[in-house]
Amino acid sequence: MDWEELFADRVEAIGVSDLDGLFALIEKPEVISFAAGVPCASSYPIDRIKAVVDHTFATDIVQALGYGADRGWSPLREWVAEHVGTVEGLSAGKDNILITSGSLHAFDLISKILISPGDTVLVEEPSYLAAIQTLRSYQAQIVSIPMDDGGVDVGRMEGILNVLKRSRIKPKFFYTISSFQNPTGITLSGERRPRLAELLRSHRVVLVEDNTYGELYFEGEPLPSVSSYMPEGAIYMGTFSKIFAPGVRLGWAVAHPQVIDKMAIGMQCTDQCPNSFTQRIVYEYARRGWIGEQVSRATKIYKRKRDLMLKALKKHLPSEADWTVPRGGFFLWVRLPKDVDTYTMFKPAVEEELVAYAAGSSFYPDRRRTSELRLAYSQVQPELIEEGISRLGRAIEKHRTRPSP
Ligand SMILES: Cc1ncc(COP(=O)(O)O)c(C=O)c1O
Repeated sequence: MDWEELFADRVEAIGVSDLDGLFALIEKPEVISFAAGVPCASSYPIDRIKAVVDHTFATDIVQALGYGADRGWSPLREWVAEHVGTVEGLSAGKDNILITSGSLHAFDLISKILISPGDTVLVEEPSYLAAIQTLRSYQAQIVSIPMDDGGVDVGRMEGILNVLKRSRIKPKFFYTISSFQNPTGITLSGERRPRLAELLRSHRVVLVEDNTYGELYFEGEPLPSVSSYMPEGAIYMGTFSKIFAPGVRLGWAVAHPQVIDKMAIGMQCTDQCPNSFTQRIVYEYARRGWIGEQVSRATKIYKRKRDLMLKALKKHLPSEADWTVPRGGFFLWVRLPKDVDTYTMFKPAVEEELVAYAAGSSFYPDRRRTSELRLAYSQVQPELIEEGISRLGRAIEKHRTRPSP
């Protein structure tokens, strides 16, 4: 069978990651990897998780093993509605909530119900790799909006929206990771949030706000979500992956009931309903107030790791390099001298220096070569951070002195 001939156009549109083969190398235990943005395993409170699993077995196991409602289990939807009201200032009832298999699943459903092939979607530049791939799979035209250390540049966005308007292009939505962004760690400033909402409202562009990391702040005060400034035109996404554990595969979307209804129909075509078993576990865990306790323990761990990484970067990276200083979340973004191509440096860095990172090119929709890279400090053991960054420093040094192929 000639499979290549049979694959749909959308598969071609997603493309392949050139780094796929190299990820096998990262698996080697001797490699210190800052590549993957995953939670710190020591933040999982195994005993407490066992207690809520036991509770589910004792009280509700038959329902937990069955199919459930497509929009999610009512007690969990109610908990999420209350939670987003408290932490995000979003006024939501159960009918505004859809439980999904993680926030990426929510993003896929949003893309499914809003994007027709060729539609334009706005994203931050750079943006989350999997979201870019999702948009490609729905054959969207991706237009990216530059960022600076205060988040997306609202003035330049206005210019871009006006240019698009003159060409009669109406973007379907703007996708933002408003706090502790993946990949940069940047947070949209408090001053820009209402301005962004106003701009989107005036151009009648939907806001899709991904707040996967928003609760993991270790400095400053949490900012109100952008959605809270334009609830009528916003779809907000959150997840239990970073405040509980990603293996439960549970997240949520908050939107107008009309949008939730369409997303639920989209879900019927894929997984029918979210996981009945893990919904009960997470609900019971949350009901006991353990999420908040886990978050406050985890953020202390992440802050310590961030500080260790900042110190090591100062010591081991070339003086022309600079980096973001995130106040929460998992990532920071490093800008190296222009003669470094972090894409070609990746293989020798892993093979020779035994250190891995995520090359900047992965986070640009046009896959441009850059001298930037993303470092995740969330998962690496604290005692390995300095050693890993010193290896990175050596990889950069070698790359700069090596004759180009
Ligand atoms: C910005 C962003 N959105 C969504 C996700 C997906 O999270 P989930 O596990 O909830 O699907 C991630 C995961 O790394 C992420 O970084």
